[in-house]
Amino acid sequence: MAASSVGHENWSSRSAFILAAVGSAVGLGNMWRFPAEAGENGGGAFVLFYIFCVLLIGLPVLLSEVLIGRHGQANAPESVRRVARDSNASGGWGVIGSIGVFAAFLILSFYCVVGGWVVYYIGVFAGDLFQTGLTGGAFEGRAAEDIEGLLPGLFGNGGLMAGLNLGFLAVTMFFVARGVSSGIEWVAVYLMPLFFMLFLGITIYGAFTGNFSEAVAYLFTFDFSKLTPEVMLAAVGQAFFSLSLGVAGMMTYGAYANRDTNLGETSGIIAGADTAVALLAGLAIFPIVFAAGLSASAGPGLMFQSLPIAFQAMPFGSLIGLAFFIMIFFAALTSSVSLLEAPTAWTHERFKITRPSATIIVGLGAAILGVLSALSFNDLAEFYPLGFIPLFAETNFFDTLDGVTAKLFMPIGAILTCVFVGWVADARLIDDENGLDGALHLLWRVLVRFVCPTVLAVILVMGLLA
Ligand code: TRP
Repeated sequence: MAASSVGHENWSSRSAFILAAVGSAVGLGNMWRFPAEAGENGGGAFVLFYIFCVLLIGLPVLLSEVLIGRHGQANAPESVRRVARDSNASGGWGVIGSIGVFAAFLILSFYCVVGGWVVYYIGVFAGDLFQTGLTGGAFEGRAAEDIEGLLPGLFGNGGLMAGLNLGFLAVTMFFVARGVSSGIEWVAVYLMPLFFMLFLGITIYGAFTGNFSEAVAYLFTFDFSKLTPEVMLAAVGQAFFSLSLGVAGMMTYGAYANRDTNLGETSGIIAGADTAVALLAGLAIFPIVFAAGLSASAGPGLMFQSLPIAFQAMPFGSLIGLAFFIMIFFAALTSSVSLLEAPTAWTHERFKITRPSATIIVGLGAAILGVLSALSFNDLAEFYPLGFIPLFAETNFFDTLDGVTAKLFMPIGAILTCVFVGWVADARLIDDENGLDGALHLLWRVLVRFVCPTVLAVILVMGLLA
């Protein structure tokens, strides 16, 4: 069932679907955000609660989303509408998809800004490798403050930031414009295996040259007293972002899945791979950072500042640094492709324009917002778009988009998805799609109907009060 009767493309195989979905899930969220969040929130307590959130909240919602997409075989709003229609429910539920598509578009715009930073560090390490040669540590003879200053240096240069952002977005657009099988699937099938190879290599390198035991102790020693409400909130938010949930991305990918794919099992594989990569990212980054005597709680600066300093003292530092940021680039690209695909598929199908035209329209919109985000680190630092709302007072453009999507769109989208799948949609239709049976099926039903919406509602409220 390749180019199917429903008028859109499908994945060429189940493994292509899995690779694309894992590619969407594994991204800056795993490699940059997870270690930073774990470091800022006390290590083990955060990690354990995170795993708990993935299993009890993330996985059930993930299955709900791909299930809607697969049944609908269309862009996210249309898929939700088709499930609603086949359940004799109101087409108004399609709003779940619309919110998601819009949120994915917003996330795409600032995700590509961070993608631009990754490209910058590829350039930095490539230049350094050229200068210091293969075997030496990175940045020979340069002071730590100097290396740390690379990021603020980049932030201060609005033109460079905007240019890198647009470059990253353009690469993303290129692949999405080529379509599901020759674009999106191509990136996943070639880049994800390369990503995993580099990742494994760097983790092993970190284990041998870095302080592995301290990293293991840090990530897996569970100190109950550190599990505060803020830590819990951070963990759920991170689980959602990492699994690409709440914003129609997984619905869109589910729509390209074939009828014979077992969605329950596939969702389990996707969530398992994503979590494994997040944990391994901690085990790759922390040994290197600890070996250099640096702190775990550097937050966002962990990957872009602490790690480059740590590479200075490591054998083959420039080379490993270069490989590391190329690996991050692959992970980020397969995620930005999924973020662009959700709004593009909608524009393409809704307005009946070609896929390349739809990609260009969505991409141009993301370019404009992206440049505003890039400039909010410098020229527009004091532009607070939602400054009149207390929650977003003194929040620049970049942080506003991040905050609005994480605190509003994602939880609202996910709550509505659970209510829709758990309570509104026809139970037989759902049972027919989910590939679960017995106790697992019952557990999933209970989680989607009761546990997930309740926990997500608490998160929504807490996030808005915080
Ligand atoms: N999950 C990706 C990451 O970890 C980011 C991402 C891709 C995403 N698609 C998404 C986040 C959709 C939310 C929704 O980097």
